[in-house]
Amino acid sequence: MTDSSKWFESLRVSYEQGELNESDITHNPFEQFNLWLQDAINNDVPEPNAMVLSTVNKQGQPSARNVLLKSADENGFIFFSNKTSDKATDLKHNPHCSLLFSWLPQHRQVIVKGKAEEISMQDSNSYFQTRPYGSRISAWVSDQSKVIKNREELEVKVKEFMDKYPENVPMPSHWGGYLVKPESIEFWQGRPSRLHDRIRFTKKANNWTIERISP
Ligand SMILES: Cc1cc2nc3c(=O)[nH]c(=O)nc-3n(C[C@H](O)[C@H](O)[C@H](O)COP(=O)(O)O)c2cc1C
Repeated sequence: MTDSSKWFESLRVSYEQGELNESDITHNPFEQFNLWLQDAINNDVPEPNAMVLSTVNKQGQPSARNVLLKSADENGFIFFSNKTSDKATDLKHNPHCSLLFSWLPQHRQVIVKGKAEEISMQDSNSYFQTRPYGSRISAWVSDQSKVIKNREELEVKVKEFMDKYPENVPMPSHWGGYLVKPESIEFWQGRPSRLHDRIRFTKKANNWTIERISP
């Protein structure tokens, strides 16, 4: 049997990639977010726009999964998905959710808490039409989160929809974007000896208050 305690001990890393000081941080959390996202892109972090979306269903059961961020500005954070998926059903009952970005090569994470709402069909469609052909076909094929018999079932449906839409693929009505409007955004920078820097922006009456949180 593996001695896993030794194994985990060998994984111990001292976080020495940087600091996060009140004097350096921008006073606009979206600007700060985009600076860190840009850093992650420049440093070749894999899938830098991947974020863990956590939702809670009607029974209080939380679920988490990765989705891709497609826009981040003053309005909030946008991702796209199937609107009959488990995540969509959760959000319909309970729009409160969180987003977690892990930029581990830089020992950074960002945690967003807020509420999700559907974006307009028109805005979803503008993005949908920029997606590669195969991804647009998949949006028709996948009854996301539902049990299917086997892989073949998907392949058959791909062929069906490619025959139906050989060129122009309309956006299915069960597909679209969600905007997560943040209520708080925390920036976390790993520091040596686990004395990390945590700076949290919280929205109060349309202004952002900035607080340092104990690591
Ligand atoms: C890196 C990565 C990015 C993903 N991006 C998306 C995405 O943008 N939208 C999406 O619906 N699913 C995306 N997925 C798949 C989801 O993690 C998930 O399997 C799917 O959305 C079904 O989730 P649900 O059953 O909880 O609704 C991604 C998975 C990974 C690993």
